Amino acid sequence: MRRVIIAGNWKMNKNISESIDLANSIKRSLYDIEEVEIVICPPFTSLSDVNEITMETNIKLGAQDCFWEKEGAFTGEVSAGMLKSVGCEYCIIGHSERRQFFGETNETVNKKLKVLLKENIKPIVCVGEKLEERKSGRTFDVIKDHVVNSLAGISKEEMVRTVIAYEPVWAIGTGVNATKEQAEEAHKYIRTLLGQMHGDDVAKSVRIQYGGSVKPENIKELILQEDVDGALVGGASLKADSFVQLVKNCL
Ligand code: PGA
Repeated sequence: MRRVIIAGNWKMNKNISESIDLANSIKRSLYDIEEVEIVICPPFTSLSDVNEITMETNIKLGAQDCFWEKEGAFTGEVSAGMLKSVGCEYCIIGHSERRQFFGETNETVNKKLKVLLKENIKPIVCVGEKLEERKSGRTFDVIKDHVVNSLAGISKEEMVRTVIAYEPVWAIGTGVNATKEQAEEAHKYIRTLLGQMHGDDVAKSVRIQYGGSVKPENIKELILQEDVDGALVGGASLKADSFVQLVKNCL
């Protein structure tokens, strides 16, 4: 059985005091929920303070990116070991905003994936097509390129510890989510690819989140799809009310 996983990606929002408020509200409302795995991913600057709040609770802490080197002269970067030391159990990598604005490629995602797995942090690897790629019938090609190359060279055991987020770029922050049928079609395809790479047992165990304009109103129909195992949530994770409701609507 794959446990539903809802992760809030706060992106570049919330200073420290705002982060503390939001994390406290989420904890207060969701402290007794075990059926859904709950992850929040504040900006780097808030990780330490939010960790004080979520430590030893059912709310897990995640980061939004990392660098693949262990340490050294890499101004501005943060290593997986540093994320571990601040309490991160998860880390998003390969988000489309990083691919679009910061030169992230499948190759750099793959390096980050390996270093996170080594540090025992669970990677959330984002994949998904742009609007023009969908319109020109290349959705599956793009998904295959992202999945096969971002996830290359890891063991079956490491694959099972990895979460995939299918995030069609045209659905992110637009208010237009993929329909449940579009999401299921892509997720099923990703699972088929995982089966080819690692066998059916592994494919069946890996959790695949959907991301892109997920709200309390549409989460239920999405997670009812056979291959949709949760969501990576941007905008709706920034207010306690909507994030809490979204998690509760999964129950
Ligand atoms: P959104 O963002 O929920 O605001 O569409 C999702 C994401 O980018 O992870």
